[in-house]
Formats: sequence, C-alpha cells, structure tokens
Amino acid sequence: MKLIMAIAPLAVLCFSAFVLSAQGFAYDFFYFVQQWPGSYCDTSSSCCYPTYGKPPSNFDIHGLWPNYNNGSYPSNCDPNNPFDISKIQDLVSSLRTNWASLACPSSDSTSFWQHEWNKHGTCSETVLNEHSYFQNALSLKSTTNVLSCLQSASILPNGGSYTLTSIKNAITSCIGHTPWIECNKDASGRYQLYQVYICVDHSGTALINCPVFPTGACGSSILFPTF
Ligand SMILES: *[C@@H]1O[C@H](CO)[C@@H](O)[C@H](O)[C@H]1NC(C)=O
Repeated sequence: MKLIMAIAPLAVLCFSAFVLSAQGFAYDFFYFVQQWPGSYCDTSSSCCYPTYGKPPSNFDIHGLWPNYNNGSYPSNCDPNNPFDISKIQDLVSSLRTNWASLACPSSDSTSFWQHEWNKHGTCSETVLNEHSYFQNALSLKSTTNVLSCLQSASILPNGGSYTLTSIKNAITSCIGHTPWIECNKDASGRYQLYQVYICVDHSGTALINCPVFPTGACGSSILFPTF
C-alpha cells in the first residue's frame, strides 16, 4: 500500500510530462494555401520557372500549414524526421505540376517541398506522415479547384480588376466555406490576388469554416494577372 502511494504521484508526474512534451506537436487545424503564379511572378523581384518548365496556368500549392485557433502556429517541430524524397517518389510527378517552386534560382522544386515538410509538415506528423501530408495536399487542390470556382463566376486571370468581395463570394459559394485572400503588389504597386487560404480540419481532409483568419492588406478591388 505504501509503495502504491509512493508510486502514484510519480506516475501522474510522468504522464503530465508526456502530455506537455506532446503539446509541441499539437495544432488545431490547417490552412491549405494556394498561390496564383501570375501574382508571384509579376512583382518587382520576379520569379524563375522550375528547371522542368513553366507550370500550368493554375493555382499552385504553397503549403498545408498546421495552425492554432489563437492565430499563431507551430513550426520546425521535429528535426529527427527531415524531408525524405524517397517516401514520396510516387507523388513527384504530380507535385512538380501542382506544387511547383517559382523561386529564383530555378530548381526542380525539391527544396520547396523540403522546406514545407520540415517547417510545417513535421508539426502534424502524428496525424499525417510525410506521404499522407503531400498526398492530402494534392487531393485538397483537386477537390477545391479554386480556378474553376472563379471562372464560373466570370473572374478570369486576364489582367483585369475584380472586387475582393466578388472573389470571396465566388469561392465561398463553390466550396461552402469563406476563404482568406492574401494580396501582394505588382511591380507598379497595385494590389493583386496572390494567395487563397482555405481551412481544413485536424485530420487534414475535410474543409471547415476558418477558426481564425490571417491578417493583411488588400484593396477592395484587386488585379488577377495572367500567367
Ligand atoms: C496559442 O496556442 C498555443 C497552443 O495552445 C500555445 O502554445 C501558444 O503559446 C499560444 N500563442 C499565443 C500567442 O497565445
């Protein structure tokens, strides 16, 4: 009896320590972030196409980012589980098309995927291993199809200007949830449609209403550049 009474508090202590350390890997939901390549490329710093060629004229995956309901996010959660391309060989050809790097100098996009996995993916590794992390992002892109949502509302990447409200409404009525639109500025300093944030549940599969939106400046009317 005495022994049990001595051990019980110790067990509680160990369990608490386990819960606390596991919290480093916790998160509440994901932002699934897609970028418009035309807006990435027409800034004053420009862009570089991948070594394997110009990506399609479509939204490009930026990342699947674990986030907290309070707006902050965990990052670089597990240095012991670095990006390993051999785990996603079957996805590489789809990733090259759908998750292309436009950063300079030109690359085969591998360093982009590596950065996203190491910084963001490792923070959800208890739920999605490296393969499911990339596979889920690819399926989210095809199920959301933001470009066709916009096209069906006659919002086209033709260099024209569209109201932010009409862009948000077109995506909301298409996917059933309100997105967050991030703007950047073209070389002349005009706001344009840069990234679309869509919220995804803890399992990385179902779309949800965003628990919290990012912040940032955007005009009430923004450009949708060609690519
Ligand atoms: C947000 O929530 C997380 C998880 O609960 C916590 O670790 C972090 O410190 C919080 N950040 C802020 C700015 O409140």
